[in-house]
Amino acid sequence: MIDVHSHILPGIDDGSRDTKMSLMMLKESFAQGIETMIATPHFYINRNEAEVFLEKRKASFEKLKEAANKEGLSFGKDIPKVYTGSEVFFFRGISKYKALPSLTVNEGKYLLLEMPFSKWNDSIISEVEDIMYTFKLQVVIAHIERFLEYQKGTDLIDKLLSLGVTVQMNAEYINSFFTRGKALKLIKEDVVQVLGSDCHNMEKRPPNLRKSIDIIEKKLGHNFIDKFNKIGYNMIN
Ligand SMILES: [Fe+2]
Repeated sequence: MIDVHSHILPGIDDGSRDTKMSLMMLKESFAQGIETMIATPHFYINRNEAEVFLEKRKASFEKLKEAANKEGLSFGKDIPKVYTGSEVFFFRGISKYKALPSLTVNEGKYLLLEMPFSKWNDSIISEVEDIMYTFKLQVVIAHIERFLEYQKGTDLIDKLLSLGVTVQMNAEYINSFFTRGKALKLIKEDVVQVLGSDCHNMEKRPPNLRKSIDIIEKKLGHNFIDKFNKIGYNMIN
């Protein structure tokens, strides 16, 4: 199983604080049957340019590799294989930002995009469309569930989906008893293509994909998990 959205790299964003925590998160994920993880630290244009961000990400990943090595843990054997990406927060002009392709998952064509936490408008949707056409990138909408309420009473979610974006949902939306019904409905309607834990730490936002996989398998069958894995693994190839 692959986890396509996580904040496991140490000391780079509001996710894992240090290598100790990163290794705990990786071990916990592996114990839950997660063989592959995409590390997607937050990218905010007003904090760093892409070049600086990528240097920081590289240094953080190197630190993690060293720490794993020191503990005798090998990626893909004792802890999940880790690929790098980023979670790019939407900004005006993003579709003209030349360095955008350098922020994709594993330097491929998938870009994890965090949409604005507000009511969108047509120009936001059209900028997402521009990203896909200008750069020939496949946009993955991070945790779609967080935006639904803001767009209530509009057709903006439908407009976004009709661009052919890939949609990611967080495990917590499925795991939580209060939102499970809505989550399963979206999965059943094929709105969702990939799952992520969006784990940030070991306390409040820990690795939690196993529970959601079990719920989906029980309620909707294994085919959905196969689909999520197929598309998830496509993201790193
Ligand atoms: Fe995230």
